[in-house]
Amino acid sequence: MIKTLEWTSQGVRLIDQTRLPMEEVYVTCTTYQEVATAIRDMVVRGAPAIGVAAAMGIALGVQQSTATDVSSLRNEFGQICRAMGETRPTAVNLFWAIRRMQQKFEALAPEGVRQIKVSLVDEAQQMLLEDIAANQAMGRHGAALMPSSGGVLTHCNAGALATCGYGTALGVIRAAIDSGKKLHVFADETRPFLQGSRLTAWELMKDGIQTTVIADNMAGAMMLQGKIKAVVVGADRIAANGDVANKIGTYSVAVLAREHEIPFYVAAPWSTVDMNTPNGEQIPIEQRSHKEVTHHAGKQVAPDGVLVENPAFDVTPNKFVTAIVTERGIARAPFSESLKEMAATSAALV
Ligand code: MRU
Repeated sequence: MIKTLEWTSQGVRLIDQTRLPMEEVYVTCTTYQEVATAIRDMVVRGAPAIGVAAAMGIALGVQQSTATDVSSLRNEFGQICRAMGETRPTAVNLFWAIRRMQQKFEALAPEGVRQIKVSLVDEAQQMLLEDIAANQAMGRHGAALMPSSGGVLTHCNAGALATCGYGTALGVIRAAIDSGKKLHVFADETRPFLQGSRLTAWELMKDGIQTTVIADNMAGAMMLQGKIKAVVVGADRIAANGDVANKIGTYSVAVLAREHEIPFYVAAPWSTVDMNTPNGEQIPIEQRSHKEVTHHAGKQVAPDGVLVENPAFDVTPNKFVTAIVTERGIARAPFSESLKEMAATSAALV
């Protein structure tokens, strides 16, 4: 099994996703600042993985603190949480994880510095286990939505590499294949960072799952030719009305799917659902370096001085979404109601 991230006695160990698929290299972040940089530079990426990496980074920072009383530790803890919160703005799992660590800190405060240090590490490790369990539950719910055979298109990487293991969208595909369905995955290459061709193709091939990489602009043609029976993607933040922020290009895929009457599914853990954000317009969209667009594999591919836009995510309006799969079950339109009902339930996962 791919170990996307793990807690070790030396620090937070990550598979370096900037170097895949050519090199499988692991890096160990030995300070919380190194974890924050790894998140910002996308050494670790994907909403659930970012959340758990941040939690481990916080636990690491607290462990290394020399504070001798809870009040000075709380000051340092605040600074560490702020550093994590400033890494990437769109994936709400990051803020969910920080809040969970803050709540844990306050619950432990009466027990003193030593206990806080130990228990925050436990909490981060628990989050990793819960994430894998949530993905497996999503797989169980979502497998039934997949066709019995044929092509399934995915965009970006919502697999083991984007989570603590198994994946969200790829978890649904894995579970469907395990249940006997004969699926063939079409992986959008996902310009400019190439999560589809570099990461999704890499992890699916490792599992022996039939995979075809296509450039992003080929999805429509594949749909028209009848090669795609369903689309399944992950999410970075789902608003209370079911609007979905995910990797740039997801919106175009959703519109194409509607035109070709192909179901468009979103798989994400409940920690990606942001009931405090009413709709997609309120979701902050990360803008990344223009260089990701003007350069490719170290080579310049656009003229000097040209204007560039590089939003890392887009928002797919809920009207294009057939269903949202979470570990709590499957939500369908009207999402304002189905997600509200789901918010009141909790999943027994393990
Ligand atoms: O910029 P990235 O690579 O972090 O973006 C990742 C995505 O958009 C994924 O689809 C999303 O985080 C879901 S991962 C289970």
